[in-house]
Amino acid sequence: MDQRLLLMHQVMLADAPRLRAYDAALEAAVQPDDVVIDVGAGTLVLSMMALRHGARHVYAIEADPTMAAVAERIAADNDLKGKLTLVQGDARAANLPEKADVIVSEMMGNLGPEEEMATVVSSVARRNLRHGGRIVPRRLVTELAAIEFDNEGWGLWRDATPDDPIGGVLSYRLDALQEFAEPGAQLHFFQREPTFLSSPEPISDDIITTERPRKRAPSTTKLTINRPGTLQAIMGYFTAELTDGVSLSNYPSYPGCNWAVWVWPLRHGAVREGDEVVVDVLPPSRRTQAREPTDWRLDCRVVRARR
Ligand SMILES: C[S@@+](CC[C@H](N)C(=O)[O-])C[C@H]1O[C@@H](n2cnc3c(N)ncnc32)[C@H](O)[C@@H]1O
Repeated sequence: MDQRLLLMHQVMLADAPRLRAYDAALEAAVQPDDVVIDVGAGTLVLSMMALRHGARHVYAIEADPTMAAVAERIAADNDLKGKLTLVQGDARAANLPEKADVIVSEMMGNLGPEEEMATVVSSVARRNLRHGGRIVPRRLVTELAAIEFDNEGWGLWRDATPDDPIGGVLSYRLDALQEFAEPGAQLHFFQREPTFLSSPEPISDDIITTERPRKRAPSTTKLTINRPGTLQAIMGYFTAELTDGVSLSNYPSYPGCNWAVWVWPLRHGAVREGDEVVVDVLPPSRRTQAREPTDWRLDCRVVRARR
């Protein structure tokens, strides 16, 4: 059995704010006797919440055969016979025997759209959600911002600095690191917040309904620098609106958060107010079926303001 996969699900179950947010959203969305579909059910945690909030029946759909086998055992161990039907396969192919009142899903990647939650859920909804049914989450937004790190970890990417935390040992030229580093996405938990050099700008904003979401194509975004500093990276993070007043985001990082923030390190350079970072967002090709957040790429260039 894939131990990495099991560990990943364990980490998701240990993310208490994630569970609390879904529990609050399902409490609001599920009415007594509702039929609920859990898309990407994994360890059945969202299915169990829906049942706890009064659902009559849950259809739990899981594509991964290993996780589906685990879910089958969990359902048996928790005496869910008659209350839960497990469907193994891609949710896009599911045609259930009855219409559902609620669809719930948690397929947010570190950047947001990697697992194509909006496309998968809207496809399930078109065939299986009753008119007027509810979807949790109902919106998924991904934003990018230009940032400068403080001294945590990423300080190694900077040039010599007088304020190094270990008594001057880092006060030598380290810019060769920047020469050797290939451009590539990294995942990072922020223990201390970076400085935002631009406002965050959305690169995708999916309202999740029965409507087919727009096809994702490479797009260009401009981040306007609004405070001077050293541009060190572009960061990307998601916000999922679960229901009225309940959202979940992987930035700021919180204790127990299972999603690191997506970071695209840049060669460091001074920027001033009015400069623009032009960012081409390059999703992985659909042919690769890649779902790794680090397969998303950026192409960035700084356009200087006229002075
Ligand atoms: C982030 S996990 C969430 C698991 C569980 N719902 C939870 O909240 O802990 C997403 C799950 O969705 C499954 N999945 C991804 N794409 C799917 C698809 N198209 N159809 C069904 N399951 C899918 C993955 O295998 C994975 O188990």
